[in-house]
Amino acid sequence: MSLAGKKILLGVTGGISAYKAVFLLRLFKKAGADVKVVMTEAATEFVTALTFESLSEHPVHVRMFEDDGKSAGAISPVEHIDLAKWPDLVVIAPATANTLANFAHGRADDLLATIVSAYEGPIVLAPAMNDVMWENPATQENMRILSDRGFRVAPPERGDLACGYEATGRMAEPETIFAAAQTLFASPLRGKKVLVSVGGTEEDIDPVRVVSNRSSGKMGFAVAEAARDAGADVTVVAARTSVAPPHGVRITRVRTGDEMASTLRREFKNADVLFMVAAVSDFKPASTLAQKKKSGEGWTLELAKTDDILAALGAEKGKRVVVGFALETEDEEQNARAKLARKHCDFVVLNKPGDAFGLDTNVVAIYDAKGRVYESKAPESKREVARRLVELVSGLPR
Ligand SMILES: Cc1cc2nc3c(=O)[nH]c(=O)nc-3n(C[C@H](O)[C@H](O)[C@H](O)COP(=O)(O)O)c2cc1C
Repeated sequence: MSLAGKKILLGVTGGISAYKAVFLLRLFKKAGADVKVVMTEAATEFVTALTFESLSEHPVHVRMFEDDGKSAGAISPVEHIDLAKWPDLVVIAPATANTLANFAHGRADDLLATIVSAYEGPIVLAPAMNDVMWENPATQENMRILSDRGFRVAPPERGDLACGYEATGRMAEPETIFAAAQTLFASPLRGKKVLVSVGGTEEDIDPVRVVSNRSSGKMGFAVAEAARDAGADVTVVAARTSVAPPHGVRITRVRTGDEMASTLRREFKNADVLFMVAAVSDFKPASTLAQKKKSGEGWTLELAKTDDILAALGAEKGKRVVVGFALETEDEEQNARAKLARKHCDFVVLNKPGDAFGLDTNVVAIYDAKGRVYESKAPESKREVARRLVELVSGLPR
C-alpha cells in the first residue's frame, strides 16, 4: 500500500535514537507523503528542529506557548487542535518512556501529548529506551494500555544500546517503522472477525496431574497478532500457554478440550475466519480419579479419544475460512492433505515437531486444496509464518 499523498505527523521525543527519525522522515517523503514534525522540548536536545524543518519543508512545532505566554499558533490560536485534525497517521519515533506514560494516562502537558489526546486516527509508536526502562512494569503496563486502545507498535529490537551493551530497547529500524505505517493502510482483514485457538489443553488424571502437550502458545499468539495488525477484530481462546499474549486482542482462557470446544463453538458463530492453532490433546484419561493417585507401584493409565473440534467446526463452516495446523512425524504431506480434506479446511499448516515447540522459529509447509502453496526455506520466525498465513487468508475471495 502506498503512502503517497498521505498526511503524516511525525512526533519525535527525547531519546538518543531521535537522529534515526530523520531517516524515517526521508523514507516518508520519498514515498510521496506530506510530513509535519512535532518535537518535544527534550527531543531538541538531541537533533535540531532545523534538520526536520529543512527535510519536511514545513515549520517544526515544539512548544505550546511562546515565551511571551501567547499560543504558538501564528495563524491559528488553536494550533494543537488544527494539528490533531490534519494527519491521516501519527507516528511517534522514538517514543520515550515518559511520552508513553503521558499518552497512556491522557496527559496533555506538552504540544505533542496535547495533539495526540485530541487526535482520533491511527498511531504507530516506536518505543526506544534502555532495556531496564523498557522492562520496567510501569512501561510495560503503559504499553498494554496503549495497545489495548489500538495504538500500533513497532517494538524495540535487540541490539547494541547506547549504554554500551546488547539488549532489547533500541528503536526499530526506520524501514520497519515505515512498513508498519504502510500495513496500517492496507488492513486486508478490516471488519473481519478472526477467532484463534491457542496453547495446549489439559486433561485431568487426578486432582493434581494432567495429560497435556508441549505447546507454548507462541505460534497462536503470533497469528492473533498478525490478524490484529491486518485490521481484524480478534478473539483468542487460549488453553495453557507459557508466553505473554499480544495486546489488542480479546482473550478467553480455557483449560480442557471440552472447555475449548464449547467456547470455540460459541465464538465460531460470529467468526469469519478460524485459525485452529491450539494443540488440543487427542487423548484424555478414560476416567479421572477423584483422589490423588498415591506414589508407589507403577500403573497403567487408560486413555480415550477426545472430540475432534476442528472436524466438527469445519463441517459447519459455511462461508467461513478455516485454517488447521498439523504436526506429523511420518507421511507428512499425505497426512496434512488428508486432514485438510477431512476437516474441511481452506489451509493446513504442517510443522515439524522439533521446530514447532517453544522456539521462536518454525519450519512449515502450507497446503490448500490444490497442493503446497508455501514452504519455509529455512527456520523463520513464528511472526513471519503468521504474517504469511494472514496474507494467504486475506487473498481468498470472500
Ligand atoms: C543522553 C540521554 C539519552 C536519553 N535517551 C532516552 C531514550 O532513549 N529513551 C527514553 O525513554 N528516555 C531517554 N532519555 C530520557 C528522556 O530524555 C527524558 O525522560 C525526557 O523527560 C523525555 O521527554 P519527552 O518524552 O518529552 O521527549 C535520555 C536522556 C538523556 C540525557
